[in-house]
Amino acid sequence: MHSSFEKYIPFEPIPMQKRRWPDRTITQAPAWCSVDLRDGNQALVDPMNVEEKLRLFHTLVDIGLKEIEVGFPSASETEFSFIRTLIEGGHIPDDVTIQVLVQARAHLIQRTFEAISGAKNVILHFYNSTSTLQRKVVFRMDMDGIVKIAVEAAQLIKKLAKPVIASGVNLRYEYSPESFMGTEMDNAVHICTRVMEELGATKEKPVILNLPSTVENCMPNYFADEIEYFIANLPNRECAIISLHPHNDRGCGVATAELGLLAGADRVEGTLFGNGERTGNVDLVTLAMNLYTQRIDPKLDFSDINKIKEVYESVTKMKIGERQPYAGELVFTAFSGSHQDAINKGFQYMKKTKTDFWEVPYLPIDPADVGRQYEPIIRINSQSGKGGAAFIMQQNFDFDLPKAMHPEFGSVVQKETDRIGKELKPDRIYDLFMAEYVDINAPYRMIKHSFNETTDAEGNSHVTFSGTLAHKDTTFDVVGEGNGPIDAFFNAIRGQKMDKFTFVDYSEHAIHAGSDSKAVAYIHLRAMNGKDVFGVGISHNISLAPLRGILSAINRAKRMEII
Ligand code: KIV
Ligand code: ZN
Repeated sequence: MHSSFEKYIPFEPIPMQKRRWPDRTITQAPAWCSVDLRDGNQALVDPMNVEEKLRLFHTLVDIGLKEIEVGFPSASETEFSFIRTLIEGGHIPDDVTIQVLVQARAHLIQRTFEAISGAKNVILHFYNSTSTLQRKVVFRMDMDGIVKIAVEAAQLIKKLAKPVIASGVNLRYEYSPESFMGTEMDNAVHICTRVMEELGATKEKPVILNLPSTVENCMPNYFADEIEYFIANLPNRECAIISLHPHNDRGCGVATAELGLLAGADRVEGTLFGNGERTGNVDLVTLAMNLYTQRIDPKLDFSDINKIKEVYESVTKMKIGERQPYAGELVFTAFSGSHQDAINKGFQYMKKTKTDFWEVPYLPIDPADVGRQYEPIIRINSQSGKGGAAFIMQQNFDFDLPKAMHPEFGSVVQKETDRIGKELKPDRIYDLFMAEYVDINAPYRMIKHSFNETTDAEGNSHVTFSGTLAHKDTTFDVVGEGNGPIDAFFNAIRGQKMDKFTFVDYSEHAIHAGSDSKAVAYIHLRAMNGKDVFGVGISHNISLAPLRGILSAINRAKRMEII
């Protein structure tokens, strides 16, 4: 008995002695055509109504699409009337060409011509299926019969087009050998050549030959071989625009399109976010943004991806996955500690060097380029590292924690993520920071204090600190002198039980909330046993903030039983 996989017939690659596409690079954007309103719409559980289609059409125009397949007018009244609404309602800009699809069948072609009456720029797109499998099981016809269908359709189209062109319509033709990927290449070349002849393709008026992977059934490199072979063997190649129409059955639609472009194609048909029959059509957003990251102008504008996403989800009633390239909710977010650290360093590097280039590890694109600058790049869960929490404090709350403090605060946050087993939002991280470092008033607290500052003849500052401190229920007075407030305070508490630390480092900066400005001081102390501890003090008074920071560090050391 056969194993279940043995029933499949593997794709048979065309024999190629030498291929040129692997040595090429893509240097410019192809011509794009959206098939959202046809392939995309046909594949919906609830196809769009006219209002929804109009909304999507205008969105496609705003993105910059110049060729938009607007439907299959002979297929249903809804399709027909939508196209009439577009034309009669004046919705189509002069520089946009609408494309209409029709099978290579006489009565459907006639109806399609009725649908486009009054339009300015039209691509009439006709097709019939050519693959070995379709010929065998669907049409039960040899290749000659299949060619005859395409040729007769082309003849009829040519005839019906005459008065239309005479009336001033810019009418172009597109032919698709549907299921091209599974067609013998010499047959594909032959049928397309015959169609071009019938339509009178010239260099000035080329015919679009659309080569679909209707069902993706081979690896992208084999498809690229097919395209290269097809182009190399097509007579009068210059009289054709070679178009790709990849579907995504093997999940390789984007790669198929990119390799197809390397193999010489000029144009790509696809949809926003890869909507379409089964696994969908190739995703135009990914294709365009992939070019963008290679410093190639894609000629499509995805600078407000969230807005496009919103329209898409509303009209198709489908959801965009969190991992969808360039658009998913999580695609610019790092949870992992080492990634967060590298992203952080990338941002710092860019700021410091003022580089003209995007040089941030783990972020292939600046999220701001697709309008995603306001969302958190770094999010904190139990997988996150020591620097992530400090990054959140900086990005969201303006706290610039010294580097040496990152691991300590990172562990505080990690303990909490382990405890709750969920992501921590920035507000919770802020609360943890406050509870750990700022709202810590025991066992020591300052009840009152004063500074007296004098400057001697040489300009040296001399500060006297006098204060009353409390330790649990008892209070005591301290006085100390120094060359600054911190020094004076440290000298004041010398001899007290809290005098068990050396001062390692200190930094201070302002934080602003509206017109209110406060100083935040970070204090790094080392206990006699060599253990480090940090404290944070916040005050409107820049001299008081570090003293609060010192008390915070001492209180934390007590709490952590460092001393
Ligand atoms: O996928 C396909 O083959 C098509 C054709 C009609 C172009 O959509
Ligand atoms: Zn298709």
